[in-house]
Amino acid sequence: MERRTLGRTGVEVPVVGLGTWATFDLPDGRQHIADAVVDAAFALGTRLVDSSPMYGRAEGGLGRTLDSRRPDAFVATKIWTPSVAEGRAQLESQLRDYDGRVDLEQVHNLVAWREHLDWLEGEREAGGIGFLGATHYAASAFPELARVMRTGRIDAIQVPLNPRDREVEREILPLAEELGLGVIVMEPLGGAGSLIPEPDPRELEPLGVASWAQALLKWTLSDPRVTAVIPATRDPEHAAKNAAAGSPPWFGPEERRVIEALVR
Ligand SMILES: NC(=O)c1ccc[n+]([C@@H]2O[C@H](COP(=O)([O-])OP(=O)(O)OC[C@H]3O[C@@H](n4cnc5c(N)ncnc54)[C@H](OP(=O)(O)O)[C@@H]3O)[C@@H](O)[C@H]2O)c1
Repeated sequence: MERRTLGRTGVEVPVVGLGTWATFDLPDGRQHIADAVVDAAFALGTRLVDSSPMYGRAEGGLGRTLDSRRPDAFVATKIWTPSVAEGRAQLESQLRDYDGRVDLEQVHNLVAWREHLDWLEGEREAGGIGFLGATHYAASAFPELARVMRTGRIDAIQVPLNPRDREVEREILPLAEELGLGVIVMEPLGGAGSLIPEPDPRELEPLGVASWAQALLKWTLSDPRVTAVIPATRDPEHAAKNAAAGSPPWFGPEERRVIEALVR
C-alpha cells in the first residue's frame, strides 16, 4: 500500500486507514467483529486507525484489538467535550486504551478548540500525544476550521471528501497544502447511513477497479493533497477490499470525471 507523509510532521502513514464510528461500538461478546476487521485491514497494510469518545464503546474495543499490534499502528482519536476536566479524563482513558500514547489527538467538531489546544499542547510536550489536529464534517464550520488551521497550532485536519461532497476543495484543501497540514478524509464512501449509491457494475469496467467502494476511495486518494482515507466497516471482506484500493495507479482527470458523472 502507498504511504504518504502526514503534512509537515514528516511521519508516513499508509493511505487507507480504518474509521470506527458506528461499526466498533460493540456490545460484550462482539469483540470478535472488531478483531476480524482489524486483522483483515492490517494484513493488507492498513495502520492508521481513527476513533473518538463520541463513538460509544469503540475506543476500548479498538485498544483491545490492537493489543500487541499497537506499536505498528498510528492511532488518531479525538477529544469531544466542552469541558477541559472531561477532556483530560478522555485523554487518560485513551492512554490506557492505546498503551500510553495517542499519535494524533484531534479536537472533535471543533468543540471548545481554544480551551483544549491550551492543555493538549502541554500533553504533547510531555510525550503522551504525538501530533494535534481538528475535525469537522459540516461546510458551515469550515470558516472556523480555517481559523484553527491558520493558528499554526495543529498538524492535521480531518474532513469529508467524496465525489458527492467536495466543499473542502474550495478553501480547506488549498489552505492545508499552503500550511503543510496532513489531510485525513472521513466519510469517503458517503458516510455511514448515506452511502453513495452503486451504479451498474458494467459502468466501472473502463476504470479497472474491483468494486464501487474502490472507485470512490481511489477517486479521493487521486487528489495528492489527501494523506489518507478512513472508511469504516464491520465486514472483514470490505476491510480487505478497501485496503486494496490504497495502491496506484491513481485516477487522472478523465477517470475522475467518469466517477463524478456516475454519482450525479
Ligand atoms: N466529525 C468527525 O470527526 C467525523 C464524522 C464522520 C466520520 N468520522 C470518521 O470517519 C470514519 C468514516 O466515516 P463514516 O463511517 O461516516 O463513513 P464511510 O466510511 O464513508 O461509510 C461507512 C459505511 O460504508 C460501508 N462500507 C465500508 N466499506 C465498504 C465496502 N467495501 N463496500 C460496501 N460498503 C462498505 C460500511 O458498512 P459495512 O459495515 O457493511 O461494510 C459503513 O456502513 C468514521 O468511522 C469516523 O472514524 C469523523
